[in-house]
Amino acid sequence: MGEQRMTQLVDTYGRGHRDLRVSLTDRCNLRCTYCMPHDFAAWLPSDELLTTDELISIIKVGVSQGIDEIRLTGGEPLLRPDIVEIVSRISAIENPPILSMTTNGLALAKLATPLFDAGLRRINISLDTLDREVFKKMTYRDRLDDVFAGIQAAKDAGLLPVKINAVLLRGINDGEVTSLLDWALAEDLNLRFIEQMPLDAGGIWNRAELITADEIFEQLSSKYKLSPVDYRGSSPAEEFLIDGGPATVGIIGSVSRPFCGACDRIRLTSDGQLRSCLFSMKETDLRGILRSDLSEEEKIEALISKFHVTVKDKLPGHGINDPSFIQPSRPMSAIGG
Ligand code: 5AD
Ligand code: SF4
Repeated sequence: MGEQRMTQLVDTYGRGHRDLRVSLTDRCNLRCTYCMPHDFAAWLPSDELLTTDELISIIKVGVSQGIDEIRLTGGEPLLRPDIVEIVSRISAIENPPILSMTTNGLALAKLATPLFDAGLRRINISLDTLDREVFKKMTYRDRLDDVFAGIQAAKDAGLLPVKINAVLLRGINDGEVTSLLDWALAEDLNLRFIEQMPLDAGGIWNRAELITADEIFEQLSSKYKLSPVDYRGSSPAEEFLIDGGPATVGIIGSVSRPFCGACDRIRLTSDGQLRSCLFSMKETDLRGILRSDLSEEEKIEALISKFHVTVKDKLPGHGINDPSFIQPSRPMSAIGG
């Protein structure tokens, strides 16, 4: 079948779900302040993490229900010791989903080529600053050069186009908006700015301090002529041609310009909980099913029904802008970006 597969995972608002974000670990070798407190230590116990076999079973069930895109996230997905095996096993699934990864890039110098050889074709690397001191301040680690080496390795391995995700924090890296784009253009990287969402668990998010999509657009416009690319689809990024193109820059206005109406994503945490949204207050336990006494067939039936229940319960939006909004209790690192 050449055409797009149908997804059975349609919610009560008519949104079809075809994109599963899979967090492989809640651990990370950086401590980005907008993601986790620098002294965070409440890691998931390792026996609560999904094994690779369990992970593959769940992904297969998702694919059977219409998931055709898998993004591996963390924490930092490259900290999973068998990451290359995970990529090759997902690539070997019948009707393989499009497979991508979001990483901080630290381990890519070593892993970019093995990952490409295992079937990975798309990569997003998180980088918020080009300044070593600012990097240290934002991540509590002195590893900027490792990220640069990782980006180069990803390019050399053919993971093209390499996408860069940048989050801006007021008074810290918000002066780097145009210099990040200058750099991305010179390096042939596809840059996207992401508005900071209230997901840090350290509680530092403050609406009044938010660097909004409009502000990012204004700053970029001081140097470049940006014109909107027509088609957005379910992509959260608003893409703009830079000085007529072909290069583009993306701005993801998660907070000020929510795109929940076109959302086609669900999420699996590293401990086997299915979530319909980053901001869900509810999770559906899949790990318990896999570790129960049910027969293999019964397990698959039960997993299928949990996928449907999760999608059916999905709310229309994240509600960040409602006065009654409550931040999820787990940090971004435990939910998956
Ligand atoms: N708001 C927006 N983006 C975030 N990320 C992590 N925490 C937040 C947040 N609070 C981004 C990272 C990475 C991706 C996984 O999500 O920068 O690119
Ligand atoms: Fe690690 Fe990514 Fe969170 Fe930064 S944003 S601490 S790189 S998981």
